[in-house]
Amino acid sequence: MILPIVAYGDPVLKKPAEEINKDYPGLDQLIADMFETMYQASGVGLAAPQVGRSIRMFIVDGSPFAETDDDEEEDPRAAGMEGFKKVFINPVIEEESGVEWGFAEGCLSIPKIREEVFRKEIVRISYYDENWNFHEETFDGYKARIIQHEYDHIEGVLFTDHLSVLKKRLLTKRLSNISQGVVSVDYKMKFPVIKKGR
Ligand code: NI
Repeated sequence: MILPIVAYGDPVLKKPAEEINKDYPGLDQLIADMFETMYQASGVGLAAPQVGRSIRMFIVDGSPFAETDDDEEEDPRAAGMEGFKKVFINPVIEEESGVEWGFAEGCLSIPKIREEVFRKEIVRISYYDENWNFHEETFDGYKARIIQHEYDHIEGVLFTDHLSVLKKRLLTKRLSNISQGVVSVDYKMKFPVIKKGR
């Protein structure tokens, strides 16, 4: 089932999410629904708060990053993206390292806006997968980038929170329009502000 994606301005996106345990009701279905929702919206990551659940879980599928033209030089940051499909439950970022690099990030909750965000290139993260097996792994390149963006979501942080005051001020009007549903998107969204009739 495709779930509505919560738009910028909804308080659930600003709230640190809660850990869950194996008894969390309907978890398998929620994971399946989140994948369906993410693919339909052409996203590469989706965090539970974005579908209105304030729990520490996110999903990723970096396959779209793996599609490069034959005559294009392979982007080393895209290495291994094919098949990078994972569920992260109760993840903990253990360490971030390496040099910060900039990338124009987008977010399904903030449609039509992309801005450069700087993050460290390597992330070490521990988490449970959908079968409750524990992992501790290190990721770099776009994998790390997607993980860091989605992890932010379960901490109540959006990519716009990383922008300079000036850059954010320049986006004020567009962000407020998104909160009011004044944006055209080809996937289902839930907007926090109901526009008053005139
Ligand atoms: Ni996002």
